[in-house]
Amino acid sequence: MQIEELKLKNFRNYRELTLCPHPGVNLFYGRNGSGKTNLLEAVHYCSLGRSHRITNDANVVKNGEAFAFTSVSIQNLLGRREISVRFHPEEIQKKTIQIDQKKIAKFSDMMGCLRCVIFSPEDLGLIKDGPSIRRRYLDMMISQISRGYFVALQQYRTGMDQRNAALRNLRTNGTGSPAILTAFEDTMAEPAAVIIRERRKIVSFLSDIAAETYQRISDTDEMFCVAYHSSVKEDDDIAETLRRLYRENREDDIRMGLTSVGPHRDDLILTMNKNQMKQFASQGQIRTAALSMKLSQMKILRDLSGEEPVLLLDDVMSELDRKRRACLIREIRDFQTFITCTDRDDVDCGKVQKIWKVSAEAGEAYVDENR
Ligand SMILES: Nc1ncnc2c1ncn2[C@@H]1O[C@H](COP(=O)(O)OP(=O)(O)OP(=O)(O)O)[C@@H](O)[C@H]1O
Ligand SMILES: [Mg+2]
Repeated sequence: MQIEELKLKNFRNYRELTLCPHPGVNLFYGRNGSGKTNLLEAVHYCSLGRSHRITNDANVVKNGEAFAFTSVSIQNLLGRREISVRFHPEEIQKKTIQIDQKKIAKFSDMMGCLRCVIFSPEDLGLIKDGPSIRRRYLDMMISQISRGYFVALQQYRTGMDQRNAALRNLRTNGTGSPAILTAFEDTMAEPAAVIIRERRKIVSFLSDIAAETYQRISDTDEMFCVAYHSSVKEDDDIAETLRRLYRENREDDIRMGLTSVGPHRDDLILTMNKNQMKQFASQGQIRTAALSMKLSQMKILRDLSGEEPVLLLDDVMSELDRKRRACLIREIRDFQTFITCTDRDDVDCGKVQKIWKVSAEAGEAYVDENR
């Protein structure tokens, strides 16, 4: 899978840009704040309809403009396709996504058209931070392989929002009946079962690949282990168990005004030689584990979809020592890759097929091919 053309209009600090990347490794270098991450963000929008950063869609519209636009022309196993995302925060529908000039009916229709994996320095949070970043890692990976999973996530969130609103209503006004909670819990239980089943399936691949990758990068026999931790036990009927747990937790949930159990609370447990990484791992082990999880994500996407995803490496080279850098470069050989960095020397230019210089003048970004 590869991007043949990337276009931006009024996107962040870009007024207008058309760029034809190399099918291999592309290096984008430029000063801090010039617009390198913005380029990767635009690609991410075309892949998953959302940013990889924590941001509001309206923020991508260039200051002073009413709309923004980004599109990619891609070549995948099914042929050539054009995916575009248009942002118009002033209109009722604030974002429109088109595939081959046709507006898509559902967000899920774009999943899997352009598969991508993004690496950024924040990935260290996969090991060190709270569970939400690990759930997002799983959700972004599985949504790109299974549209059913993405649909289940949406249905589950809608059901949970409704249940949470009903819980808060019961707390503040004492209005509403338990029967309404039962109805919402029923709508949550089936998609929850899909989510947990799919996550368990992926984690069973992930645990082997990540353990093997970790040992290869670190050149040790340290045992890195990834396991899925859920409030539902392995052999239990998931939907049935969750219905019971939702019911049993109602009193507490009403007090808190939120749903305290379910896949939105599950986590990945990461251990090194059976010790929790969060508590025991060194800086180097954390870096190696985060890199292993990302490399495993690449391999899983490739193996399960039959196509190489596009890789977006945002400023990660400077974070890695020589050995880990070499390892990453070796692994990306077969993939179309966008690497950003401030210092060209951070990347072994022998492996880079096209170099682009990103610069900004008076708040506007430009990308020039480096000859
Ligand atoms: N909506 C917007 N309109 C105009 N400019 C914006 C908008 N959003 C962000 N910017 C500008 O984009 C620039 C940041 O771009 P980006 O994050 O891509 O930089 P970068 O090259 O990745 O920098 P670094 O090397 O520090 O990571 C900043 O100068 C910021 O002011
Ligand atoms: Mg950046």
